[in-house]
Amino acid sequence: MTRNFKRILVTGGAGFIGSHVVRLLVKNYPDYNIYNLDNLTYAGNLENLKDIENEINYNFLKADITNAELIDGLFDDYQFDAIIHLAAESHVDRSISDPLSFVKTNVIGTMNLLNSAKRIWQDDYSDKLFYHISTDEVYGTLGEKGLFTENTAYDPNSPYSASKASSDHFVRAYGETYGLPYIISNCSNNYGPNQFPEKLIPLFIHNIVEKKDLPVYGDGKYTRDWLYVIDHARSIDLILHEGSKKETYNIGGFNEWQNIDLIELLCKLMDEKLNREIGSSAKLINYVKDRPGHDKRYAIDASKLSRTLGWKPSVTFEEGLSKTIDWYLHNKKWLDHVVSGDYKEYYKKQYLE
Ligand code: NAD
Ligand code: TYD
Repeated sequence: MTRNFKRILVTGGAGFIGSHVVRLLVKNYPDYNIYNLDNLTYAGNLENLKDIENEINYNFLKADITNAELIDGLFDDYQFDAIIHLAAESHVDRSISDPLSFVKTNVIGTMNLLNSAKRIWQDDYSDKLFYHISTDEVYGTLGEKGLFTENTAYDPNSPYSASKASSDHFVRAYGETYGLPYIISNCSNNYGPNQFPEKLIPLFIHNIVEKKDLPVYGDGKYTRDWLYVIDHARSIDLILHEGSKKETYNIGGFNEWQNIDLIELLCKLMDEKLNREIGSSAKLINYVKDRPGHDKRYAIDASKLSRTLGWKPSVTFEEGLSKTIDWYLHNKKWLDHVVSGDYKEYYKKQYLE
């Protein structure tokens, strides 16, 4: 079954994954109006969407999802027929130092969107969809073996994953209690262009360029399952149009890496691309104090998505990582603006002057 929409609200569209989702929808669906709602926290960067900002089916709404009244008003004004909800506080380390802001944005913000959607849709739920974007971190941690399936019990360990788990539960509860049409997808770690350089891969690319230390948490033997961000955006497009309502889909690339192995590969590729002596970037590796509550291993079983909707990733990890490094090396201005804070000026120049 393929659905069609007229007015899609994408929350968090100025962030890392959201900007790739917005671009893909704007380009692939000229008949849809795409509304990117974002309040431009430190992680929101409109420079991510420079190339499509003048497209006629693209609209930017600066708004905070924690403001219920404002969100309600926007639903009245624009009558969205689908929501792809990505806006969130997304960094585990920040959730450890400031857990409450994660509850505010990830839980209360999601509640506000659910309430507004329920209010304007409840007379006719057909052809409407609340698509909630979540993470594999809600499942907690795996031992040496096994994969997270859609039936794995939630067992979050960080304030970030606890807040995402809570929002997932509310979305499902609104489906059961009020009949709100929803889909949830839980994806593994993303990497690729436009990721804020606080997360492992962009931080380490930046530090290698600058010849700064690479802070490896604990023994470095933690495992993550990595997916290229454009493949995540492609799967969101597919699920939006063809996924079954009231279902959860796990998204991942069957691509597990121990942190230290990934870091060594990254160092080698960076040496080659920067014409530095092989082994010079690896010398920057510096083992540091571990992250509290650090989940040992994440690994996603994405077979439901491939079996039911025919999805598969478009790039191998080596290709994706190479493209990612190239993007950061060729977009030094983007990285410089993010590191210096100048990206904040872009919104003022573009939208306020
Ligand atoms: P990000 O931190 O890069 O972007 C988040 C965006 O949300 C930013 O543009 C920010 O300005 C916006 N935002 C934050 N608080 C807001 C608020 N109160 N009102 C309006 N906008 C607000 O995050 P990301 O990595 O792109 O992740 C997007 C979504 O995908 C999140 O829900 C995250 O939990 C989920 N996810 C991320 C990953 C990953 O590896 N990054 C993996 C699986 C799922
Ligand atoms: P991160 O990119 O923060 O994603 P997540 O915590 O959501 O998985 O971290 C990926 C892995 O890399 C995780 O095991 C923590 C580790 N890590 C480091 O070793 N050093 C760092 O500086 C960062 C940011 C992460």
